[in-house]
Amino acid sequence: MCGIIGIIGRDSVSERILEGLKRLEYRGYDSAGIATLVNGKIERRRAEGKLVNLSQRLAEQPLGGDVGIGHTRWATHGVPTENNAHPHTDGKVAVVHNGIIENFRDLKAELAAKGRVFASDTDTEVIVHLVSDFLDQGKTPREAVQATLHRIEGAFALVIIIAGFHDVIFGARRGTPLAVGLGDGEMYLGSDAMALSHLTNRLIYLEEGDWVEMTRDHVQVRDEHDNDVTREIKLSAVSGAMMGKGNYAHFMQKEIFEQPAVIGDTLHSFINPATQAIKLPDMPFNIGEATRLTIVACGTSFYAGLVAKHWIERYAGLGVDVDVASEFRYRCPPLPKGGIALFISQSGETLDTLAALRYAKSKGQKILSIVNVAESTIARESDVVLQTFAGPEIGVASTKAFTTQLTVLACLAVTIGRENGTLSKEAEAAIVHALTELPKQAAEVLHHDEEIRQLALNIADARDVLYLGRGLGYPIAMEGALKLKEISYIHAEGYAAGEMKHGPIALIDQSVPIIVIAPSDELFEKTASNMQEAAARGGRVIFLSDAQGLATVGDIASATVELPKVADFVAPILYTIPVQMLAYHVAVHKGTDVDQPRNLAKSVTVE
Ligand code: AGP
Repeated sequence: MCGIIGIIGRDSVSERILEGLKRLEYRGYDSAGIATLVNGKIERRRAEGKLVNLSQRLAEQPLGGDVGIGHTRWATHGVPTENNAHPHTDGKVAVVHNGIIENFRDLKAELAAKGRVFASDTDTEVIVHLVSDFLDQGKTPREAVQATLHRIEGAFALVIIIAGFHDVIFGARRGTPLAVGLGDGEMYLGSDAMALSHLTNRLIYLEEGDWVEMTRDHVQVRDEHDNDVTREIKLSAVSGAMMGKGNYAHFMQKEIFEQPAVIGDTLHSFINPATQAIKLPDMPFNIGEATRLTIVACGTSFYAGLVAKHWIERYAGLGVDVDVASEFRYRCPPLPKGGIALFISQSGETLDTLAALRYAKSKGQKILSIVNVAESTIARESDVVLQTFAGPEIGVASTKAFTTQLTVLACLAVTIGRENGTLSKEAEAAIVHALTELPKQAAEVLHHDEEIRQLALNIADARDVLYLGRGLGYPIAMEGALKLKEISYIHAEGYAAGEMKHGPIALIDQSVPIIVIAPSDELFEKTASNMQEAAARGGRVIFLSDAQGLATVGDIASATVELPKVADFVAPILYTIPVQMLAYHVAVHKGTDVDQPRNLAKSVTVE
């Protein structure tokens, strides 16, 4: 996902814009650039690849000016070259943009017919020429921006500066977030709180369709109908300290090791320490009366939904459907009267998930969301938000967000079961106790780091890796496979262990490591025999279980990892951590970009 920043300042802005772009690196990108107003003219520096290249360019050709915009680009239209890097400009107008202009081809043809010359393959450039064309028609900057916003269609966040207009900067959001930062005699615009955390903590989150005209002392927000509106000023909790890696080599490593703490923080936000009872935020509906629950998400968040399905059906007696957002939204499924739809999203900005939310809302579902970013679009459009307290997750590969999502989902399952009478007080107390033990047990698992690093060396050269699990372990097998493939680029698949005999077992030979997730739960015997079937065919099995499980069949595996014995209910949360660590160490050994893997973005706000 692209990153945007703009400053109308009291003094030089290029270094502060570059710092803001560094705080947006976690989003994933493949080129970057900055443009400023210098003596009434637009000056620009851009570079392909990582910000170090742009920084080098700025060192060679410093950029003055106290008004400027910056951008990290995750390519959608046009290959990731310097020529396609933002900001785009025609010399009069400069723009940075996150999102997609759906009607850019028609606009490009219309503008080209007027003699406008395009320098890039991007959709963004039509914004430059539209504003410029309206200015040529005699419109003021505000009128030109306003007219442009009424011509472009699609999802975008954008920031605009105009040569010769040194006291104004414009921003707009439609489908992609943009925040205003309030300074002292200067103002800012940024993709999120992190982009602005070195400049201010006083933020205005623009609403859907808002656009903004800013001088150094005044912010005028207008809605999609161009009416002046007032938006609340909020204080951001994000600090620079949260942005650092500390003593860790990578953000992903730091975030794996933060899990005991953030699982505890998330739990404590929902469990009354005095009564040990789970208390979710008040809801404008009785969740105990839900007729069915539809869970929609993408990627790792989808796997959290699969775990929740097991919990909620088993312990709350409520039927659950789970689907990936990109399929759900186009299948247009019938949704039951009295149903609840739950959307799980770390970023709260995933466009497919947001579109699915809007579909479910249109079908009369009550909307629940679990997000890690309180001010996100998905949160704003939900009836009830259950927040994970993972803190900013910078690594593209989701880790602490996933285990805190599961923590919230566990509390939701218990609440539904209690409210609809399915879950007894004793059963609830047992689950709550198991949950409160988790932070300590998660910390114990982290002590296996060196052991798991050694195991990683044995699978780093594999071409294919299989992950097997049953019941609650099956979604964790898929999550483990996703972690490995997205950061080490090794092909990996997560399978239901019982499915192996229906075809995938043909894949197994000495070259295929098999990671088996097998807490000694009610399905252990069956999972263990699947493991034996794999080992009998030469598969190199890494067996994750507890002492009891290892004592039963551990000697058949090529390698084992002993985890604490935990209640069946919480096993998926605990067994996630070793598969995260395994993927991390394989990627480090392979030398891939662990925090910003190739082709990936932290939050996918395009379709
Ligand atoms: C997981 O490691 C990936 N980064 C990706 O699958 C991610 O979970 C997915 O894009 C959903 O993102 P969200 O939770 O922010 O909606």
